[in-house]
Amino acid sequence: MAYRHIDVRTLTPAVGAEIRGVDLREPLPDEVFGEVRSAFLRHQVVFFKEQEALTPDQQVAFARRFGGLHLHPAAPHLEGRPEIFVIHTHKDSKIANGNGWHTDVSCDDEPPLGTMLQLHKLPGQGGDTLFASMYAAWDALSAPMQAFLETLTARHESEHIYRGRYSDRNVDDTGKVYPETSHPVCRTHPETGRRALYVNRAFTTRIEGLGVAESKALLNFLFEHVEQERFQVRFKWEVNDMAFWDNRCLQHHAMWDYWPEERKGHRVTIQGDRPYLVPLEAAAAAAE
Ligand code: SIN
Repeated sequence: MAYRHIDVRTLTPAVGAEIRGVDLREPLPDEVFGEVRSAFLRHQVVFFKEQEALTPDQQVAFARRFGGLHLHPAAPHLEGRPEIFVIHTHKDSKIANGNGWHTDVSCDDEPPLGTMLQLHKLPGQGGDTLFASMYAAWDALSAPMQAFLETLTARHESEHIYRGRYSDRNVDDTGKVYPETSHPVCRTHPETGRRALYVNRAFTTRIEGLGVAESKALLNFLFEHVEQERFQVRFKWEVNDMAFWDNRCLQHHAMWDYWPEERKGHRVTIQGDRPYLVPLEAAAAAAE
């Protein structure tokens, strides 16, 4: 696709592109926004380069162009701004957010469509984020395996992740009930119509309808499958870069290899819809 208003540099054949030529502090004209949206849908994660730090209002305004906002069920947010999740790791941190392969908040009935993260402070080295295309992971499976997975749903839970996780950041979760839900193992992307594998190491706890050992073996196979380098891009941040990733077809992993240094930024997530799978015959009929 030719872009007239933005400069798009593809990073790998499977996933990821850098975007230059937009200043995210300003409202984007519709024709520019349309190209940004196309690049996002095509590359699954886009990195806006050469940015200034956005104010919370500017970041929220840009995120809202893609839809209503999603509120994180557990994480610490900016004072008075529940829609701004403060990503912050330093020498006293006990955990680093996203330090393992996952899809954001897949334990929600309607998990976030996408996540927008701007980093304002970076360590001297490290702190990269890796992204893996779940379209590519799905496409690489054999037809018989795909046919089997299409019949399955999986449980996604969060109690084991979120309980007490942010206690060192003054989040008291006494009495809080954390979300859990079921989703298809393969989902149809609501905008591109492509199929993506939708299980992740962090939240997916079991495949429904299988025995415990069967579920464990299948999930282990899928977790290892999706983590192959050929599906990935590794992003090296510069200060004020803004990443925007599509949780409907991606997993990511934020490396915590920079302790005791500090890494900090603001994350906003956009509300998604309930994952579904369009059966192949229905997809084919719709395409005719
Ligand atoms: C996250 O999973 O949202 C964190 C990503 C990052 O810090 O790079």
